[in-house]
Amino acid sequence: VTRNDFPEDFFFGVATSAYQVEGGRAEGRRGDNIWDVFSETEGTIVIANGDIAVDQYHRYKEDVDLISKLGFNAYRFSLSWSRIFPDGLGTKVNEDGISYYNNLINALLDKGIQPFVTLYHWDLPYNLQTSIEGWLTKKIGVFFHLCRNLFRKLWRQSETLVTINEPLQTAVNGYDIGIFAPGRKDNPSTEPYLAAHHQLLAHASAVDVYRKKFKAKQGGEIGLVVDCEWAEPFSDRIEDKSAAERRIDFQLGWYCYKHFFLLFFYQLFPFVKVFGPNILWDYPKTMRARLGSNLPQFSDREKELLHRSLDFVGLNHYTSRLIAHMPSTSDQFYQVQEIEGIVNWPGGEAIGPRAASDWLYVVPWGLRKVLNYIAKKYENPMIYVTENGMDDEDSKVSALEQALDDKMRVDYFKGYLASVAQAISDGVDVRGYFAWSLLDNFEWAQGYTKRFGLVYVDYKNGLSRHPKASALWFSKFFKGAQ
Ligand code: FCB
Repeated sequence: VTRNDFPEDFFFGVATSAYQVEGGRAEGRRGDNIWDVFSETEGTIVIANGDIAVDQYHRYKEDVDLISKLGFNAYRFSLSWSRIFPDGLGTKVNEDGISYYNNLINALLDKGIQPFVTLYHWDLPYNLQTSIEGWLTKKIGVFFHLCRNLFRKLWRQSETLVTINEPLQTAVNGYDIGIFAPGRKDNPSTEPYLAAHHQLLAHASAVDVYRKKFKAKQGGEIGLVVDCEWAEPFSDRIEDKSAAERRIDFQLGWYCYKHFFLLFFYQLFPFVKVFGPNILWDYPKTMRARLGSNLPQFSDREKELLHRSLDFVGLNHYTSRLIAHMPSTSDQFYQVQEIEGIVNWPGGEAIGPRAASDWLYVVPWGLRKVLNYIAKKYENPMIYVTENGMDDEDSKVSALEQALDDKMRVDYFKGYLASVAQAISDGVDVRGYFAWSLLDNFEWAQGYTKRFGLVYVDYKNGLSRHPKASALWFSKFFKGAQ
């Protein structure tokens, strides 16, 4: 794969998120968020925290230089909500937080690097968890105030904005199995669906205010980042094929159901509205069928807001897996995966070699499949691959030279980039690609035990940064030589 396989104006970026890299927990009048508290709670599987993380709060200039030297032309990062609104409510703005992000954005723009700004990447202000139960209630509409104030304060030309990162993981890990903050697991047949529902509504209201008040001035674009693995049927049996389809409904369809088709349809046939927006948006039928009244309903107004709410799809994609049908063993459905009725086939080795995390199989062709699936299902929307990457096991890396020689990651990127290039030649409208991650960082429930960085961070020696072979591979790739 070469740089010439991609359009000239294609974005090649690296991605991070605030809690994973920033640190500076007690600085700049930042308020606490749910991860600050979750990582201090005994019994959670988290064995570390992001108090310092990799200190991007103090080293953002060095990091921006690094991004620029490596030759990337985009940086995707997230805003820590409680750095800007320490009480979470979105009314009292903390100017220290605003100036930190203004400085970061200015540093990027000075180097000609396009900021891709995620407004929410999992670090909910703690006050919102305790006072309004986080994503479980509609009151989380305060997200709208956060966004309105942010758009006003962080006004830039042509920014690309993401409202929410991977609502699926918040719903499942945060409110179903409880391995992510806020660690809820007692009502798995209802809470994940509420948490997802309110994230969708928050997303839609943020997009609405952006479009009405800011988009014309700013000329930017706004979307949602979803995560979807490729689900390969375990066998040719019809049950396994539909289990694989269902899997994609429960990942992608949960958050993307027909946005694009409906927009297109409305434009062609505006009179269809007469029949009411009921036909215009809903969760996938497979979800309704399995969840019944546990799956919340949208009002007509909400459906309208949602069905036009994406300028682009942000896709986080790491892996693929074999999926088989799981016959229900009881009527008592419990966790999301049981309700889905799938077996996430444990013989995953068959689908590709494994990286450090037990969920991460290297299957480059899966990305082309997901991209084509999105193009076909949703009328060929604009897509950014907003995350893609693999990890090493920290404990297996003993010497620096060994850590920097990440051959497997170089091959991972070669394979996945080739897959994106193929999808583009299939006609899929992919506009950018972001490697996860710029730096080794705090990998949520896994703490610092997994290293996803293109750049090694020496945790024992002042958090110094050292580009790995994969980072250098990208630099050569950009110059057209490898
Ligand atoms: C994604 C998250 C990101 C990172 C990668 C490995 O699900 O969005 O923050 O942890 O996984």
